[in-house]
Amino acid sequence: MGGNVVDLEMITSVTVDEDGVAEIGLMLTVAQCPMRGFLEGETARRVKTLPGISDVVVRTTAMTSKQRARLMSGARMRARETALSTRVHPTTRVVAVSSGKGGVGKSTISANLAVALADQGFEVGLLDADIWGFSIPRMMGSDARLEADDSTKLIIPARVGGIRLVSTGLIIENEETALMWRGLMLSKALEQFLHQVDWGELDYLVIDMPPGTGDIQMALARLLPQAEMVVVTTPQKAAQKVAIRVADMARRSHMPIVGVIENMSSFTCEHGVEYQLFGNGGGAELSESLLVPLLAQVPLDPEVVAGGDGGMPVTRSHPENPASLAFRAAARRIVELLPPVVDESCTGRIAKLLEQLAVSGEDVPPLVASN
Ligand SMILES: Nc1ncnc2c1ncn2[C@@H]1O[C@H](COP(=O)(O)OP(=O)(O)OP(=O)(O)O)[C@@H](O)[C@H]1O
Ligand SMILES: [Mg+2]
Repeated sequence: MGGNVVDLEMITSVTVDEDGVAEIGLMLTVAQCPMRGFLEGETARRVKTLPGISDVVVRTTAMTSKQRARLMSGARMRARETALSTRVHPTTRVVAVSSGKGGVGKSTISANLAVALADQGFEVGLLDADIWGFSIPRMMGSDARLEADDSTKLIIPARVGGIRLVSTGLIIENEETALMWRGLMLSKALEQFLHQVDWGELDYLVIDMPPGTGDIQMALARLLPQAEMVVVTTPQKAAQKVAIRVADMARRSHMPIVGVIENMSSFTCEHGVEYQLFGNGGGAELSESLLVPLLAQVPLDPEVVAGGDGGMPVTRSHPENPASLAFRAAARRIVELLPPVVDESCTGRIAKLLEQLAVSGEDVPPLVASN
């Protein structure tokens, strides 16, 4: 409906007791709202990221026909005003692959997660938010050039192996497309990628974040409120410290952390001996301190490097490689934790239902509370 539950006045009450248990009153348009589970779940998850909150109880009620009519007219007005909202559908699950440190495997993990999610049958986008240090085109083996649709003027993502791809690497070094970008500061590229790319209806958008905890991260949180973070770490302690910094930033920007992926966990030589080259336990420790799951431990493997350099992520080129198994396991965990949202949003079928209810003036009985 073009707004969040607070702006849409769907939050009726907020209380926090001395144990840090928050009780949130959530008012839905209709009791049968198919988005109910999603809205309750997301409300609880978001509030849980706030400091001092130990638990969240969401008490759900349904609107009266009068309240509904008011909401609908507000939503219509908002839809006209917010023409500049992002082109990423609000129900698209956004996973930002981050780490405070360079070279820990963010781009490798982004590419392989995107492949693993696409192989599960999902519509997947892959956004290279490393504007200056882009590496996704090489890793995905794409030398496509991004073009704009003549009628909509929106940029059409490149398609690689069923994945929709956008990266500054697909724009520069080409005069025609450089023209399209003239006048736009490249530092604004992330904003452009979210506002002027025709992403279509994605289930998942994987974002390869640049190293560090800088502007791009904060911009992403502001532009895409549905973004969630996967933190990548290597097994040793030093890397973990940096990763904790990222986690802090996630908290400050209210970006929930889905989980931790430990990369370069161990190396198994051709004689079957396993070496913990970068120490061990860093991923488990970090996930425990963040109270989020350890999504996978990805071993160090030459096939991973070859896949990245050769433009065919290992998950696709060598599906039985232990690293590929780990990437697929991580993708499955992400789907469990962030199931794709069935889009029954208020712009389509539900809008019609609401209009009908508004006309008939029918009231819906209140709901029972839920956790
Ligand atoms: N599990 C792995 N096994 C072996 N090599 C790996 C593994 N993961 C990543 N690498 C290699 O490590 C290097 C750095 O990986 P990558 O570029 O994905 O890191 P990054 O965190 O995105 O780096 P940057 O911070 O520069 O963006 C690459 O050469 C990549 O092939
Ligand atoms: Mg990278």
